[in-house]
Amino acid sequence: MQKKSYAFVLLIIFLASIGFAGNPQQYFTGNIERDVNNLLAQMTLEEKIGQLVQNSGVNSQKEKWLRQGMVGSFLGVMGAKETNRVQRIAVEETRLGIPLLFGLDVIHGYRTIFPIPLGETATWNLLLLEKSARIAAIEASASGINWTFAPMVDIARDARWGRIAEGSGEDPYLGSVMAAARVTGFQGKDLTLPNTIAACAKHYAAYGGAEAGKDYNTVDISLVTLRNVYLPPFKSAVEVGVSTLMSAFNEISGIPCSGNKLLLTKILRQEWGFDGFVVSDWDAVKEMVVHGNAANEQEAGKLALEAGMDMEMVSGIYFRHFADMVKQGMISEELIDRAVRRILRIKFRLGLFEHPYVDPARENKEILTPEHRQFARKIAAESIVLLKNDKNILPLNKAVKSIAVIGPLAKDKRAPLGSWSCAGKPEDVVNLFDGIKKKVAKNTIIYYAKGCEIQSGDKKDFAEAISVARKADVVLLALGEGGEMSGEAASRSFLGLPGYQLELAKEIIALGKPTVVILMNGRPLAIPLIAGNATSILETWFLGVECGNAIADVVFGNVNPSGKLPVSFPRTTGQEPLYYNHKNTGRPATEFRYTSKYLDVAEGPLYPFGYGLSYTNFEYQNL
Ligand code: NOJ
Repeated sequence: MQKKSYAFVLLIIFLASIGFAGNPQQYFTGNIERDVNNLLAQMTLEEKIGQLVQNSGVNSQKEKWLRQGMVGSFLGVMGAKETNRVQRIAVEETRLGIPLLFGLDVIHGYRTIFPIPLGETATWNLLLLEKSARIAAIEASASGINWTFAPMVDIARDARWGRIAEGSGEDPYLGSVMAAARVTGFQGKDLTLPNTIAACAKHYAAYGGAEAGKDYNTVDISLVTLRNVYLPPFKSAVEVGVSTLMSAFNEISGIPCSGNKLLLTKILRQEWGFDGFVVSDWDAVKEMVVHGNAANEQEAGKLALEAGMDMEMVSGIYFRHFADMVKQGMISEELIDRAVRRILRIKFRLGLFEHPYVDPARENKEILTPEHRQFARKIAAESIVLLKNDKNILPLNKAVKSIAVIGPLAKDKRAPLGSWSCAGKPEDVVNLFDGIKKKVAKNTIIYYAKGCEIQSGDKKDFAEAISVARKADVVLLALGEGGEMSGEAASRSFLGLPGYQLELAKEIIALGKPTVVILMNGRPLAIPLIAGNATSILETWFLGVECGNAIADVVFGNVNPSGKLPVSFPRTTGQEPLYYNHKNTGRPATEFRYTSKYLDVAEGPLYPFGYGLSYTNFEYQNL
């Protein structure tokens, strides 16, 4: 036995001394830490730095750098053929043959698009969220992706912030369990399987605290709020083994997250024991100069590396400066080794050295399958929240004589894909109109009118919408936001219905027909007039490819709505930030003037966190 292991060690030393010459199989001893160190010992400084570099998209220049071992990861390169082609360069044409990570924003589905994460969270169903992430991973990996920039686990308490759509809402506990479910779904039980991918909890941390809900804006919070509100979902992701984290654009207490030692080293490594790697958000290392924390690129790079930022997305500061900086003694090679080790560890855990390529046959077999669509319909239906149902007008009878489907979102096939549509295509989407049409009895007459645009336009099509509504027994009125009005860089200062939609709604509702408002939106909207006057309201977020079918399932009672709001809906924009678990004030609102309230709006949300009706009555007893 002893002789054998001695021979084994000699073999490793021999292999290490001759170099691995592009044959990744040879790195394996079965012990990842040992393999990582063996490999690291073979690497030149330039090759080490290359592992810390993530490029966006490929071109001939980037392929040249790749051949020199100067790239460790790409984002935005997808498709089995293309990822295999680029991976082949890394594995077969570089000195050490280290495989690439292909990252992509697979946020709520790859090609089979599911509801936006905020919508999925409204199911309050961990198993559904896990499965949604699982399917997204199967499809993405079939297309050569081995790393998703998800889940986004930012707590969001201000509905003006467009990225509220991408997360799980305002509650740290709900956000934590949802984060864990999504990570588990993406990564599966065994990361080495070809259909599991590395997850990335983002944006670390407190990005959702952007002042006034304006994206990329500064964040100023106490450490207590940081720890109690914003960090728990990240901790939860780490506890279930998330492979990577992404740093946020903002600063905390004056230090940008991408160069923040408290976040990246003290809390993440020392307190939580995380051993994967951290990637910066797009250009975030460079932006430390604009923040005013670094005088130039070199200082920004040093700040980031020393704080614990391992891989740099896009801005290329590590790539351009680190070799010289090490040589000049401005940064230590040990810190570069530390980052490389963390990245290689994840590459080994993913089994990339054993199977760097994707089987191209999977692409045709595993993407947008009928089973995936069927699941998309289920999770979409369960994401819907019934906000109002006067006189139990819903569910409708399938044999209703006539229905008018009205509104700028009624036939929209783009908006239901949400803000991160990934490989989703509008032609895959069943819109509301088609979903309703498929469901009703043969004799039911369906009228349609657009009424107005989502944002711009005028009232010239109101007349047609009104005449159509007059003819019908029931009106379904699809209102809300365009798909691009939430998500990144999509903050709004006004949370009402955009454009002429509220005007349209008033005129249609005034006709006195039973009117079901179907909201499609990426954030809570302030809709007091709709809440007061529509007969019924369904909050449907952006539901993905099965949007129309899922809404029809609820409208006609095949599915009893069970969604509950993961965010508070305001009465008016000025109430934001608005969330249920705010701290006590010494003067809670009462009739007495000198208490905490506004003079011009009733206290509290229009619809609170957790709100959602169903077609059933519940009674709670003996609690
Ligand atoms: C910037 C976004 O903030 C982040 O969420 C995303 O993952 C990266 N871009 C990559 O697309």
